[in-house]
Amino acid sequence: MRFDIITIFPEMFQKIFSGGVIKRALEKGLIDIKVHNLRDFAFDKHRQVDDRPFGGGQGMVLKPEPIFLAVEKIRNDESSPVYLLSPQGRRFDFRFAENLAKYNQVILICGRYEGVDERVIQDLVTDEISIGDYVLTGGEPAAVVIIDAVSRFVPHVVGKMESVKYDSFSEGLLDFPQYTRPRVYREMEVPQVLFLGDHKKIECWRRRKSLEKTGRLRPDLLSAKELSEKNFLGKIQTEKKGMNNESH
Ligand SMILES: C[S@@+](CC[C@H](N)C(=O)[O-])C[C@H]1O[C@@H](n2cnc3c(N)ncnc32)[C@H](O)[C@@H]1O
Repeated sequence: MRFDIITIFPEMFQKIFSGGVIKRALEKGLIDIKVHNLRDFAFDKHRQVDDRPFGGGQGMVLKPEPIFLAVEKIRNDESSPVYLLSPQGRRFDFRFAENLAKYNQVILICGRYEGVDERVIQDLVTDEISIGDYVLTGGEPAAVVIIDAVSRFVPHVVGKMESVKYDSFSEGLLDFPQYTRPRVYREMEVPQVLFLGDHKKIECWRRRKSLEKTGRLRPDLLSAKELSEKNFLGKIQTEKKGMNNESH
């Protein structure tokens, strides 16, 4: 799987992929990341990549010609998706990441300033992607987020694919709480169930904790599809209230 990033700040990517899981994946050749300087595709006298907006207004806009030329040069296959990073785009999430990992090549265009000429959106890109409802100064941090999240779905990048399967969102729920040594820390004890060696009980406890946490922090994730899970959660909450009332 290969990622191609088009940016006016290629140096921003020098360190960010030089550690951890992504570094190992690069070393093993499981993924490849190519960073392209947009200025290398600007062929006018001043190698200009931006200009003032027609109609007036603040800031600068990235010109269409270098972006079109860059994509046309870099794209290996007509089916490789090309995404413009943009706060106006389709929201990037777990499923989007999983789906992108199926391609051999994904091209990411990083905007800057006021954004890019609209003709890039009209006639070049597959879609616009946003990493959230806020505005960054440029698309580079968003490209890093996308590459990191997509790479986790590339086979063998994460040592145990099992762990990806149980991560938050994989089944529409948040992950269960994790504990490690020491068993007691500042009077906080690790739940007893984790020491019983009863895997069925542990699984049930983890499922319950996942549901509780999702219900508390992200109730929106408990869609109609998980109605039975919702009922399960309702039951847990009723049980809990009952227990609290009993203890008062
Ligand atoms: C200052 S922003 C431009 C914002 C644009 N004028 C608007 O209001 O939609 C500069 C660049 O940062 C990137 N960017 C900003 N916020 C982003 C987000 N939430 N997701 C992805 N990219 C983002 C885009 O590439 C964008 O072209």
